[in-house]
Amino acid sequence: MIRLEKIQRRYVSDEVETTALRDIDLHVDAGEFVAIMGPSGCGKSTLLNTLGTVDRPNAGRYLFGDRDLAALDEKALAKFRAATLGFIFQSFNLIDELTIEENVALGLAYRSDAGDRRARVAAAVDKVGIAHRARHYPHQLSGGQQQRAAIARAIVGDPKLILADEPTGNLDTANGEQVLDILTGLNAEGATIIMVTHSPSHADVAKRRIDMLDGRIVASAARAI
Ligand SMILES: Nc1ncnc2c1ncn2[C@@H]1O[C@H](COP(=O)(O)OP(=O)(O)OP(=O)(O)O)[C@@H](O)[C@H]1O
Ligand SMILES: [Mg+2]
Repeated sequence: MIRLEKIQRRYVSDEVETTALRDIDLHVDAGEFVAIMGPSGCGKSTLLNTLGTVDRPNAGRYLFGDRDLAALDEKALAKFRAATLGFIFQSFNLIDELTIEENVALGLAYRSDAGDRRARVAAAVDKVGIAHRARHYPHQLSGGQQQRAAIARAIVGDPKLILADEPTGNLDTANGEQVLDILTGLNAEGATIIMVTHSPSHADVAKRRIDMLDGRIVASAARAI
């Protein structure tokens, strides 16, 4: 499904150049659940943002299915993201002024083909177990509930690929496990998941683990069953 070839990403600021990604080659098949690990600053978020097309590489190729994403302009990429991807972040990134169901509905923005939006939002909040909080505002929810709302927003459009950057990073053990259970369930239903985590036990939930160091992938191993 995904093929990265020799991806490079450099940041230049105040004459300091940082190479965040060096020669990244990566294949991910449909249906995989991949965990990405590595020390702070090794390029995990940059890789995830590159996969999400919100960060563009300086060199290399990104093929998604049979599409070369480098050939798409910003408008086409926005459409691709809306139809194909779901993002989950460490800090939830909910909008404080909107209710949970309004936040979740944002996951259907840029989608003209969404059908019955209300029904889809209701199904998504129900799936993550926060239907009873749908009319509340983010600050009225616990951290775990807020992250589940963010997952509902990510999945309301039925994405093929879910990209999660430390989704359990701000949660206690119980809430973190709940989030992992939801992700595991989504993977079992067919979603491909790529998740950055600092927790080896959380990485063990994935079917494959990739280790990064200094902008490179240094190991990739399937989980022993
Ligand atoms: N916008 C930016 N401008 C300049 N340098 C950046 C920028 N974003 C990231 N970097 C640098 O690129 C490198 C990789 O950063 P990245 O955020 O991908 O690391 P990470 O592995 O996600 O770290 P963490 O575990 O702390 O989240 C770091 O050296 C970082 O300082
Ligand atoms: Mg990061």
